Amino acid sequence: MNSTFKDLINQTYPFPQKAFEVRDNALFFHQISLKNIIEKFGSPLKLTYLPIIGEKINKAKTLIENAMSKCGYEQPYISSYCTKSSHFSHILLEVLKYNSHLEISSAFDTDIIFQLFKNGNLKKDSYILCNGFKTNNYIKGIRKLFKAGMTNVIPILDSMEELQAYESFDKNEVHIGLRMATEEAPKSEFYSSRFGIQQSKILDFYKQKIQGHSKIKLKMLHFFVYTGIKDTKYYWNEVHKHVSTYAQLKSICPDLDSLNIGGGLPIQNSLDFNYDYQNICDELIALIKNHCIKKDILEPIIFSEFGSFTVAESGACIFKVLGKKKQNDRETWYIVDNTLISTLPDMWAKKQKFLMLPINRWNKNYIPVILGGLTCDNDDNYSFTSNKEQLFLPELSSNGKDPLYIGFFHTGAYQETLSGFGGIHHCLIPAPKHILINRDLSGNLSYEVFLEEQQSNITLENLGYTNKNYLNCR
Ligand SMILES: Cc1ncc(COP(=O)(O)O)c(C=O)c1O
Repeated sequence: MNSTFKDLINQTYPFPQKAFEVRDNALFFHQISLKNIIEKFGSPLKLTYLPIIGEKINKAKTLIENAMSKCGYEQPYISSYCTKSSHFSHILLEVLKYNSHLEISSAFDTDIIFQLFKNGNLKKDSYILCNGFKTNNYIKGIRKLFKAGMTNVIPILDSMEELQAYESFDKNEVHIGLRMATEEAPKSEFYSSRFGIQQSKILDFYKQKIQGHSKIKLKMLHFFVYTGIKDTKYYWNEVHKHVSTYAQLKSICPDLDSLNIGGGLPIQNSLDFNYDYQNICDELIALIKNHCIKKDILEPIIFSEFGSFTVAESGACIFKVLGKKKQNDRETWYIVDNTLISTLPDMWAKKQKFLMLPINRWNKNYIPVILGGLTCDNDDNYSFTSNKEQLFLPELSSNGKDPLYIGFFHTGAYQETLSGFGGIHHCLIPAPKHILINRDLSGNLSYEVFLEEQQSNITLENLGYTNKNYLNCR
C-alpha cells in the first residue's frame, strides 16, 4: 500500500504543531510559507525568525514565576541571556526588548556590551554577569564597563586567583559572584568540572579572602550543570549540593542574596519531543525554597542564563536535495546543496539531533534516506532521528522538476560560532595570529606573519554591531 509523507507524519506524531503545519503539501514555519522564502531567496539558506525570542523569554519567566507562586517563593526571578549561544546584534537587540539581562564569557563580549550601552540599547543598571576564565583583556573590558557607569556588572569568579584583579579596581564596592564547580556526570571522563571553584574550598575562600573585605562583596553563587536541566538523580544531587552551599554561605555572608542556576533548559529536537517544563521548574524552585526554610535563611533571588532555550528555536537551515545515490539495497543517499558538518557542527561533534522536515512534496511517497553534504568528509552525513529511528523523506521527482527542499529547525544556538560563520568563534575567542616559517638552502629560518590575531572590531562588524544607525533605530 502506498502512503505519502503526510500520512507518515500524521500517523506517527502529533501534527500540526504550533510552529509547523502543512498547507497544499508544503511546510509552513510559524505560518510563513517556506516555499515562498525559497522562491525569493534561493537555497542553501539560514533564517532567523526573531519573534520567537521574546516568546521564549516570556515563557521562561512564566514557568519560573508560576513555580514560585506555587510554593510561596517571595524573591524575584531575573532572566539573563547567555550571549555565547548567539552573539548577533539582531539577537541581542531582540533579547533586550524583553528586559532580559546578559551573561557574557570573554573579552570581545565586553566590547559588545560597551557598544550596546553607548548606543542606549542597554540600561545603566542591566545585570551583566561575567562568567568564564578572565584573561587580562577580559578584566580590562570589565573595568571599562564599570568606568562607563554600568552599576550591575558582576564578575563571577572562575578561580580563587581571579579575586585580586577586582581588588585593584578604582571603585568603592565591587559585587562579585562565585561559580561553584559541579561534579561531572557519571559517564564523563573527568571527575570535576574545570569551571568554577571546588565546593570543598568555597567556604574557606570566602572566610579568608572576602569576609569583611572593604571593597569586595559576595552577592551571587552560580552553578551550571553541563548535562542541562534533566530529571535525573545526578542533576538533583548537583542542585542539592549547590543549594546547601548557598545556605552555608548565606549564614555567614549577609550580602549574598542571589543564586544563579545557569542555563540548560532543553529545546524541541523532534516532533514527539516531550519535556514537562513546568513540572521541572516547580521541583527546582520548591527544592530551593524548602532548603531555605529548613536552614532558616531568606530565599535567594533566582537568576538564570538560558541560552539554547531562548534562541535555538528562532533558527533554521534550508537545503535543496541535489540528487540521489543508491549505494546498495539498504542505503539511499540524498545529497544536499551545502555541508552539514560545518553548517550544523553539533550534529557530528555532539551527535546532536535537530528537527528535520521536508519543505515540499508532502503528498509523495516516502523512502528511508541518509543525508550527505557536499564535502568529501565521511562524517558529513545525517542518518537517524533523535529516537534513533531511520530518516524518511519524500521521493524525488524523476524529471528534476519540483526539487525537494528540506529544513533543519531549531538550529539558532551555538551553530554559527562553532562553525566559524563569517569569521566568528565560540565565546568570541579571537583566531590566533598565524605565522609562516621557512628555511632557506643555508638553513636560515625566516618568519612571516600571514595573519594577525583577530581584533574585536572585525568580530563586532561580523556580528552586525558597527552600523550605528541600525543600533539606534531599534
Ligand atoms: C555558564 C553558562 N551559563 C549558561 C549556559 C547556557 O546553556 P544553555 O544554552 O544550555 O541554556 C552555558 C552554556 O554552555 C554556560 O556555560
